[in-house]
Amino acid sequence: MRVVMLGTGYVGLVSGVCFSDFGHDVVCVDKDPNKIEKLLNGEIPIYEPGLDRLLDQNVKAGRLSFTLDLKEAAKGADAVFIAVGTPTRRGDGGADLTYVFAAAEEIANTFDNGVTVVLKSTVPVGTNRAVRDHIKKTNPNFEFYMASNPEFLREGAAIEDFMRPDRVVVGCDSEEAEYTLRQLYRPLYLRETPMLFTTFETAEIIKYAANAFLATKITFINEIADLCEKVDADVQQVAKGIGLDGRVGSKFLHAGPGYGGSCFPKDTLALAKTAQENKAPVTIVESVIKANDNRKVKMAEKVIASCGGSVEGKKIGILGVTFKPNTDDMRDAPSLVILPTLMERGATVVAYDPEGRREAEHMMPGVNWADDAYDVAQDADAIVVITEWNQFRALDLERLKGMMKSPLLVDLRNIYDPNIVAEKGFSYVPIGKPARMLPDAQPVDA
Ligand code: UDX
Repeated sequence: MRVVMLGTGYVGLVSGVCFSDFGHDVVCVDKDPNKIEKLLNGEIPIYEPGLDRLLDQNVKAGRLSFTLDLKEAAKGADAVFIAVGTPTRRGDGGADLTYVFAAAEEIANTFDNGVTVVLKSTVPVGTNRAVRDHIKKTNPNFEFYMASNPEFLREGAAIEDFMRPDRVVVGCDSEEAEYTLRQLYRPLYLRETPMLFTTFETAEIIKYAANAFLATKITFINEIADLCEKVDADVQQVAKGIGLDGRVGSKFLHAGPGYGGSCFPKDTLALAKTAQENKAPVTIVESVIKANDNRKVKMAEKVIASCGGSVEGKKIGILGVTFKPNTDDMRDAPSLVILPTLMERGATVVAYDPEGRREAEHMMPGVNWADDAYDVAQDADAIVVITEWNQFRALDLERLKGMMKSPLLVDLRNIYDPNIVAEKGFSYVPIGKPARMLPDAQPVDA
């Protein structure tokens, strides 16, 4: 099939590359000449493991190309995907759909009859129908089929999620659109991937409800972690104990510094807003949003408490600033609250992140950047793990201790075994389980 991908952001690029790997002919279109030029040179504007290799292979195989010229790309297309950004609107938390409607108008004036228009961007309930109507109004002679096809791609694991999804969700109201989407995802047939065909509105809600549910699960275990800390229980064992119940499930029960990223914060806000507008408020999701915002501040307080109640004049080493590992994405990362708070309270902050520095540097002026994990330890009063990159999980603790002013490890991701860290002579402060402090280093209550 011939596919046009409108928008070469994260979702557009991953989807375009993966569809071409499925064997389809894909043209990715963007308005930004810089982006297109880079892609034509094989440079990828985002960090996603494996994407560069897959892109290169499919360009070489002649199935994948990039252009600024939508008219040219549109010729003979079976499907055009709208994968443009839907940023959070300033002020009211709703999704800004300007780019989606602009793309819809361009499609109405450019494509041949018979094409299926697929909206992949995450959009509020009612948008697919509104986009379909907008295309019809823009060009009443244009015959097309509409489909909603929300994405469930995790950054850092997006290729795997695309190639081996738990399910494919499609909202549509015509056999033609259903046929096109079935053809596009046919390579998943062998894996017996469930394909759920439903209405536009149901597909839209599935996307928001899935992310809001996962955000709720994380926030739930984070609050249980706070309780565990107060009563000397162990949140990891609690998560295991409840996760073994098949109805609960063990995934997304890792307590941490709060969720971030491009999806959960934005999608929970948008769902809460849609629900309010429809007079069916999702009060649970509203609480999740509040609890997660507070959590990031609380994490800074936890670090300060671990340092005895003050970080004034202290040097704090930070391991990891991105919202999760295997990405350079800094959107709504907990570090964006934690690091500035520590600096406001008089700390000198030295940070290291394997991929995030370029993005993070301009977002957090005043932070000193180290070239590797050991660099942050030099004369540090504490080291704080914020992101669980693999390379932080087996650091040489003796070497770290030898470099630090005082051996304190605050592990906001629970990547270390408390016994091992304590044996090495560290004070250790994990999430949701008892801290192991050296006799002369007592944390104050956060
Ligand atoms: C998410 C969804 O998983 C994906 O399906 C979707 O459509 C896009 O949003 P992503 O934002 O890339 O993907 O990351 P994800 O792995 O889901 O993690 C989101 C945040 O939750 C991260 O900040 C992560 O650190 C945090 N998290 C996740 C936890 O704190 N604990 C967990 O157990 C899981």
